[in-house]
Amino acid sequence: MRSVTVELGSRSYPIHIGRGLLSCAELLLARMSVPRAVVVSNEVVAPLYLDRLVTALRGAGVDVSTLVLPDGEIHKDRASLDAIHDALLAGCAERSTTLIALGGGVTGDVAGFAAATYQRGMPFIQVPTTLLAQVDSSVGGKTGINHPLGKNMIGAFHQPRLVLADLDTLDTLPERELKAGLAEVIKYGLIRDREFLAWLEENVERLTAREAEALAFAIERSCIDKAQVVAADETESGLRAILNFGHSFGHAIEAGAGYGVWLHGEAVAAGTMMAAELSHRIGWLDAADVARIESLLRRAGLPVRGPALGVDRYLDLMSHDKKMEAGRLRLVLLARIGEALVHAGAPEAEIRAAIAARSADHSRQ
Ligand code: NAD
Ligand code: GLY
Repeated sequence: MRSVTVELGSRSYPIHIGRGLLSCAELLLARMSVPRAVVVSNEVVAPLYLDRLVTALRGAGVDVSTLVLPDGEIHKDRASLDAIHDALLAGCAERSTTLIALGGGVTGDVAGFAAATYQRGMPFIQVPTTLLAQVDSSVGGKTGINHPLGKNMIGAFHQPRLVLADLDTLDTLPERELKAGLAEVIKYGLIRDREFLAWLEENVERLTAREAEALAFAIERSCIDKAQVVAADETESGLRAILNFGHSFGHAIEAGAGYGVWLHGEAVAAGTMMAAELSHRIGWLDAADVARIESLLRRAGLPVRGPALGVDRYLDLMSHDKKMEAGRLRLVLLARIGEALVHAGAPEAEIRAAIAARSADHSRQ
């Protein structure tokens, strides 16, 4: 088992990465206030892994109840949040009960927000089962739901007490989902970790082939990168914004295409190309850097162009994103490969040109 710590003083927590961890109930029990838990999962993940987790917890003496939500990004909404709160109240969950999210980023985000808001905050554990959730969404305490007018617009910071990433769960992950997770892995290399980027350029085919050692290394390295950024800036008053590289464009793609049509990671990949293109247009990256990024995303099987929503629609959707400041778009751009900066000064004409250059109708390849 590999372990990474998110250093947040008295709220520090471990991320454990390894095989067979769903059965290691003692790891979960050690992070609970009392041996009482509610596990939230979804209709795809529950039949695969819920029994394994619940059996282990019960075997360790934990009083466990479960809730299974419908699957999909369109259910990262108020109805799912209500369903969790209803179940907690109906089951008389106490403030000391631990809420455990078993699933991908959707389950983790909505369950985390339910945990943040139930009785003003209950203990929360993330058991991520997608690559994307293991390298990104389960770490760092961002929780929330979507609003029809914008992605993740309703939410809270609420750190988990533990992240348990069982690599066995990735065996059943559909290929498209695995590739979507790689978009966030590549992000870390681009924004702050050139050595990791070089490793990815050497090894990306080992990841798409699900080679166990390569996956374990990439997940651990991604978690180290994310943990360091979160420890430095938990609530995104500065540095943490770099984790949103490609996301302002990507969120517009997800909302504009209709939640769930483009996977989050796919939208981030196309958004990464738009951000790289814009970085080039304002003179920060050269054309060879942009080509290098495109090549890696292609090799990971990710889209490198966004859908043809129309530039006006992109800008409209991006103006609802949380990254607006005094009416100006604050975008995360690359000063160079391995160094991201937040920039509010990109001329609108260049933003328009970057979107136009990197979106197309027949664009999913
Ligand atoms: P997801 O949760 O929808 O999971 C993808 C699909 O895979 C779903 O159908 C799910 O049921 C299924 N699945 C999950 N685990 C599986 C397994 N082991 N085997 C087979 N199928 C499995 O999507 P995701 O990509 O995990 O997460 C995307 C979400 O995460 C988005 O809503 C995004 O906004 C959010 N996110 C949040 C943060 C954060 O910091 N909180 C960061 C990045 C992304
Ligand atoms: N995924 C962006 C963040 O956690 O800050």
